[in-house]
Amino acid sequence: LEGFFIEKRLAGKQVLLTAGPTFEPIDAVRGITNVSSGKMGYALARACRDAGAEVTLVSGPTSLPCPVGVRRLDVVSAAEMHQAVLQEVGRSDVFIAVAAVADYRVKNRSEHKLKKGDSVPVIELEENPDILATVAGLPAAPFCVGFAAESQNLLEFAETKRRRKKVPLLVANLAQQAMGADHNEVVLLDDAGAHPLPVLPKEQVAHAIVAHLAALLPQR
Ligand code: CTP
Ligand code: CA
Repeated sequence: LEGFFIEKRLAGKQVLLTAGPTFEPIDAVRGITNVSSGKMGYALARACRDAGAEVTLVSGPTSLPCPVGVRRLDVVSAAEMHQAVLQEVGRSDVFIAVAAVADYRVKNRSEHKLKKGDSVPVIELEENPDILATVAGLPAAPFCVGFAAESQNLLEFAETKRRRKKVPLLVANLAQQAMGADHNEVVLLDDAGAHPLPVLPKEQVAHAIVAHLAALLPQR
């Protein structure tokens, strides 16, 4: 019911989001992952829905229920997330990358469970594609929103990231503060500068991000 009273700032828009962690298998029973509850991404998916958008959520493994009215595509690894996003992005007006994507995957992944032996296994890593940078670099790129989780030098690192990935809007937060919590304190970075928000429940952070991005969205 709450959503009923929210301004339909994204009416008629197609929004694609990534959320949650990715999981990169080492063998049949083990893997490498990032710490991410998915709460911020799911809150943003709901906020976009409440703002009148048609929402597709590409989600890594989380324990969260699929928001009502949102189309969810479940993925496990960064490669799967990348593939799902590229398949969907063509008809999207807005892309919001909230997922904590593993930067590396296991190169020498074993199909069967590794057994304890004489030597400690060596895990070889190779870099995963940067989903956000890929989408932002497409010829007909949607309006892209990124997140930056930093553990130090928040504003400097985040603004550098925004420029490197060429995204018009980046949401910066301190990883230690955001991870798993129900509240978050973020700074919105755009071409006009830094816009800090107070500590708010993730639900309200999400609505503030939607209001900000809707105001920046080019008229089509
Ligand atoms: N991202 C992505 N694909 C990746 C890595 C990151 O789409 N392979 C997105 C995240 O969803 C987030 C933004 O890029 O919106 C920034 O992610 P982050 O991990 O903070 O930045 P990185 O560029 O990976 O740099 P680093 O981890 O070294 O800080
Ligand atoms: Ca990263």
